[in-house]
Amino acid sequence: MKKIAIFATGSGSNFQALAVAAQSGSLNAEISLLVCDKPGAFAVDRAEMLGIPALVISPKSYPSKEAYEEEILQKLTGLEVDMIVLAGYMRLIGPTLLNAFEGKIINIHPSLLPAFPGKDAIGQALAAGAETTGVTIHYVDEGMDTGPVIASASVKITLGETRESLQKKIQRIEHSLYPEVLEELLNGNEEAVQWEKSVH
Ligand code: GAR
Repeated sequence: MKKIAIFATGSGSNFQALAVAAQSGSLNAEISLLVCDKPGAFAVDRAEMLGIPALVISPKSYPSKEAYEEEILQKLTGLEVDMIVLAGYMRLIGPTLLNAFEGKIINIHPSLLPAFPGKDAIGQALAAGAETTGVTIHYVDEGMDTGPVIASASVKITLGETRESLQKKIQRIEHSLYPEVLEELLNGNEEAVQWEKSVH
């Protein structure tokens, strides 16, 4: 069974959705480790509740990004991790991890990329007056939300939509799309899966 490390910075709801899918058997993978770059993040509490080991590691404690990622890499190598899944990890991946896990790092982003990359994609979509936004799952490269797209799903922005209501719709999609797409990838189905689904 493939071993996965999930990287998260904040709440960790996507981490939990993936872990629950793995523990219930709908995702045929072992979630070996949570890597969290923010001590005190709720993702770490979720890991404890789910019985998944967590590496809580602050970049500030390292002289360089390279040294920080070397430390993570050592841990991943020790656990024989096959793939890295970013789930709300708000940091660019550097060459140390990119080279060690070439083509084996994926990310989820709350917009239809290339629209609204980077931070606060939901706020960006609302501020732009967009009628549609969505979720994108993509391979990670050295850029900010720029790697090849694997799957996407669209979400309609309705009249009177608030940040909270839009976030709720997007996260509902994320929590089902991410485990499903990861399962497809692990089964070797690498062709892009464009979800026709849209949420109102
Ligand atoms: C998710 O909506 C994810 O798409 C987004 O952060 C949220 C994390 O939520 N990621 C990005 O914006 C990456 N650029 P979670 O911690 O509850 O899973």
